[in-house]
Amino acid sequence: MTLKHKRKVMSKFSSYNFSGQKALIRVDFNVPLNDKYEITDDTRIKAAIPTIRKILDDGGSVILMSHLGRPKDGPTERYSLKHLVIHLRRLLQGATILFAKDCIGGEAGQMAKSLRRGEILLLENLRFYKEEEKGDKAFAEKLSKLGDVYVNDAFGAAHRAHASTAVIAQFFPPDKKMFGLLMESEVASAERVLHGSQKPFTAIIGGAKVSDKILVLENLLDKATDIIIGGGMAYTFEKAQGGNIGQSLCEEERLGAAKELLAKAETKGVCIHLPSDSLIADKFANDAETSTAPSNNIPDGWMGLDIGVNACEQFCNVIKHSKTILWNGPMGVFEMEKFQHGTKCVASAVAESTQNGAFSLVGGGDSVSALNQFGFANKVSYISTGGGAMLEYLEGKTLPGIAAIQES
Ligand code: 3PG
Ligand code: MG
Repeated sequence: MTLKHKRKVMSKFSSYNFSGQKALIRVDFNVPLNDKYEITDDTRIKAAIPTIRKILDDGGSVILMSHLGRPKDGPTERYSLKHLVIHLRRLLQGATILFAKDCIGGEAGQMAKSLRRGEILLLENLRFYKEEEKGDKAFAEKLSKLGDVYVNDAFGAAHRAHASTAVIAQFFPPDKKMFGLLMESEVASAERVLHGSQKPFTAIIGGAKVSDKILVLENLLDKATDIIIGGGMAYTFEKAQGGNIGQSLCEEERLGAAKELLAKAETKGVCIHLPSDSLIADKFANDAETSTAPSNNIPDGWMGLDIGVNACEQFCNVIKHSKTILWNGPMGVFEMEKFQHGTKCVASAVAESTQNGAFSLVGGGDSVSALNQFGFANKVSYISTGGGAMLEYLEGKTLPGIAAIQES
């Protein structure tokens, strides 16, 4: 079959007709709210809209369930999902959006039952019940009774084996449970990077701690041709090789792991790029004195807070020659203006490479906010809505939210 004649296989969700059906969708509407309970970043809500729209357009109705934050003692104003209703109405103009003050119980049941075609019911925060995080079967079963078909579109929470993300799936027959469009595209992008990447494949891994990323790095040793390591974690690698890193961040207990990783990379022929130089500071503050130094020769009393100008050039060069790019974690303390240059350079190089045909996937809260802050958000191929979930996916783990649907 030639490419021209190859038709895209329709996904289970896309080919399902929701007409007359009540779809119970697990979304991840865990969005940041300010003190006035206004949403400060609605990316996750926007990302679920196509799934909701398709169901409504088919002539179905939608019951939305989500968590918000980590409430510990039952219902609290701060974590009520009612704060999202107005914004949801704005994003889904024309649709009727109702809110149930509880996610189970008589009232929620009644509201779900009388929901009409084209209408949406948003349930109150699932985590107001401790049964949610415990993965309680009886609680999951109660939730399952609200809808005819279960759609999991909560990629951001797919690494949690909770009642609504995983346990609930067993209460639906195989043809009545599926991923939503967001979940499908998240999985497709991660799969493309991990298992279908065009080479050279460069993984850019940054952030403060080696311990957060060690499993990702291990897994990438079998996939990537190049791994760029930046951010605070780079100094543990420098020290592991005998470098002087001054007061830079270092996880002493990870020195051995860092050394081992470098050795493994060499055996596997993966090129590890550490920043040749650093922007150093005499304190962790935006008004610090700054200077530059080789990353393996930082004077005492100084710390690396960003990659240096040579490292920027070194990293950008690798990125620009890549056909597949994965980016997780900033190159420096980009929240402070003085130390944002490295992260900005990398963002710009990823955008340029994407423009030239590379596939780029950016995941993880910090690198995504960096893209937004520097105006490159729509210049990469895919931005993941999952922080922890994406990391665990990249570690090669099977996510409970995904397994629950795939295994049946
Ligand atoms: C997230 O924001 O990481 C997801 O919504 C999952 O939330 P959690 O880390 O509180 O389980
Ligand atoms: Mg989290």
